[in-house]
Amino acid sequence: MPKRILCLNGPNLNLLGARPSQHYGQLSLPELEQKLIQEACGLEIELICRQSNHEGQLLDWLHASMNDGTQGLMINAGAYTHTSLALGDALEVLTYPIIEVHLSNVYAREAIRHHSYVAPHSSGQITGLGPLGYQLALRALNQLLS
Ligand code: DQA
Repeated sequence: MPKRILCLNGPNLNLLGARPSQHYGQLSLPELEQKLIQEACGLEIELICRQSNHEGQLLDWLHASMNDGTQGLMINAGAYTHTSLALGDALEVLTYPIIEVHLSNVYAREAIRHHSYVAPHSSGQITGLGPLGYQLALRALNQLLS
């Protein structure tokens, strides 16, 4: 049975490729997801990729993941990482491993980006490695679930 992992991207990540490349690189989100799904296939992982600009939609997907066989989560919540107590509350309930991902190094940026509502509920955080961070998160989840 393949492991089921959810890859959730939050606000503005649909604009990857058009956002400042010094922080986010040049890859579009569909390109990033395509690479990730390919890698997941080799690891016998069913990777479900979702993106929304709406906080409530992200919460609904997280709630649904409690009953649909999801076994792990990688999440780049974008700016909601730093602002959404509701997101933290939703993550708190989840029983499977969570990896927090950021393309840019949030600790090398403005102080407001140093706080995360995701981090307290995550097994680990990968920040500043660009798309490679997602690949590493996938591998980490794969190991955590073996
Ligand atoms: C981000 C970092 C956040 O601070 C920012 O709001 C984003 C993207 C990243 O991937 O580096 O939208 O999560």
